[in-house]
Amino acid sequence: MVHTIEDRIRIVAGTVSVKLKEYIHIKDPDMDRVIEAMDYSLSAGGKRIRPFLVLSVCDMLSGNRKEAMVYACALEMIHTYSLIHDDLPCMDNDDLRRGHPTCHKVYGEATAMLAGDALLTYAVELVASQPDISAEHKVLAIECLTHEAGVMGMIGGQQMDLNGEGHTMSYEKMTKMHSLKTGALIKCACRLGAISASVEDSKKLSDLDQYAEGIGRVFQLVDDILDENSSSSELGKPIHSDVKNKKTTYLTFMPAEMAEQLADVITDKAVEALKDYPNNEILCDLAMYLKKRKK
Ligand code: IPE
Ligand code: IPE
Ligand code: MG
Ligand code: MG
Ligand code: MG
Repeated sequence: MVHTIEDRIRIVAGTVSVKLKEYIHIKDPDMDRVIEAMDYSLSAGGKRIRPFLVLSVCDMLSGNRKEAMVYACALEMIHTYSLIHDDLPCMDNDDLRRGHPTCHKVYGEATAMLAGDALLTYAVELVASQPDISAEHKVLAIECLTHEAGVMGMIGGQQMDLNGEGHTMSYEKMTKMHSLKTGALIKCACRLGAISASVEDSKKLSDLDQYAEGIGRVFQLVDDILDENSSSSELGKPIHSDVKNKKTTYLTFMPAEMAEQLADVITDKAVEALKDYPNNEILCDLAMYLKKRKK
């Protein structure tokens, strides 16, 4: 049976969601509230694009799928933590996420903050505690996860995003901010797929980085357009959050139609990086899907 890219993403999302549920099955009544908050945000849905990327890169490079699934879940935990904190009143102050009230609306700010922290640390523990993954791969994976989520990655990008509130940053700075706040975890996904396939070849890694850099930029570009032009029922999160918070986005610099044309150019370049790889179809289809996505 031929699956569309949307079908494939949905199927992987289902498998990843089951796995995540299994991993968060920690039982201690004293910690119930924070564990429930972690599970609430993880189970609320989400497209699971980063896990899909980890697994698709693993498949393209004939890697170990079981290992890649662990990395995929760890990365989704870190991504979910970034969303919980991004929505807090001291950050974007948003009330809806993945079609449900945000974590802090249900559990309060303090527990939401702890749930985010716990998802980050648990992601690292999850990878470190796998008996079937080699020590060498675990170190590489943890280095990648913590670097890309950290101050020179997603956190750095979120700080730049805060720095830019209320005044327009330069186009170059905005591009750097996007590469970090959104691109870093997407690059991490591709790198984790490569680790599961024991790929160390620097040409292959830089091709994957080029692909990731392109789709990461387009991912945030589309997010900025959807924030302006979509509806909260379709997106599962509030619209006009960027205007509310006086953010610098692609739409600060150009109309949506021009931003869409730019997305075409960046996507073509991203896909070009993988042109010589056999079995690159799913990653190419994913890049096309991400620039056209409606949620
Ligand atoms: C939203 O990410 C945050 C950004 C980096 C733009 P997603 O659009 O992947 O959110 P979910 O995981 O599907 O909810
Ligand atoms: C956030 O970007 C990226 C993260 C690191 C969470 P946004 O603030 O634009 O993400 P949304 O629109 O709230 O999902
Ligand atoms: Mg934000
Ligand atoms: Mg936000
Ligand atoms: Mg946004």
